[in-house]
Amino acid sequence: MDDIRALQVQDYDQLIALWQQAGLRSAKTDGRDSRAAIARQLQSGLQTILGLENDGQLVGAVMATHDGRKGWINRLAIDPQFRRRGYGLQLVEAAEQVLRQQGIQIIAVLVEGDNAASFNLFQKAGYVDYPGIHYMTKRDSSTV
Ligand SMILES: CC(C)(COP(=O)(O)OP(=O)(O)OC[C@H]1O[C@@H](n2cnc3c(N)ncnc32)[C@H](O)[C@@H]1OP(=O)(O)O)[C@@H](O)C(=O)NCCC(=O)NCCS
Repeated sequence: MDDIRALQVQDYDQLIALWQQAGLRSAKTDGRDSRAAIARQLQSGLQTILGLENDGQLVGAVMATHDGRKGWINRLAIDPQFRRRGYGLQLVEAAEQVLRQQGIQIIAVLVEGDNAASFNLFQKAGYVDYPGIHYMTKRDSSTV
């Protein structure tokens, strides 16, 4: 049986194990994805982490965050053994629902240029690409 639920900081170890299993390249477990950082983000109310369980096993997860103006979908990851079953798409749609309930009407995602699986998934979910946009960041340290 499949079930999508909001994850809490108690689920942190399972979440990290899933990310590792999924080969999620963007995870910053020494920085903004550390246990303390995730606990703080969850407490802020601006971030929801959804997990998809198959017979009680965490096989997928996604983060839905907003800044009051725009929503962001981050860290989408599905266990390799459970891919191409529609779980990724289901989690994205569930994350959108969470953001809409928080009054958010625009949702964005950053997809690395060579990640065809993710690019196709978000296109299928209705996201429109803006070619030529530069992703620029300024960081206080290399871990964040
Ligand atoms: C990207 C990822 C989340 C997809 O999860 P998934 O559960 O397999 O995706 P779904 O089954 O919901 O697929 C939905 C659609 O996405 C596209 N898609 C998914 N995987 C794909 C692949 N390997 N190649 C091409 N298109 C793919 C297809 O259009 C698919 O629809 P279809 O199966 O009817 O053809 C998964 O491959 C993953 O965890 N990758 C590693 C982590 C990652 O890159 N995360 C994204 C960060 S932005």
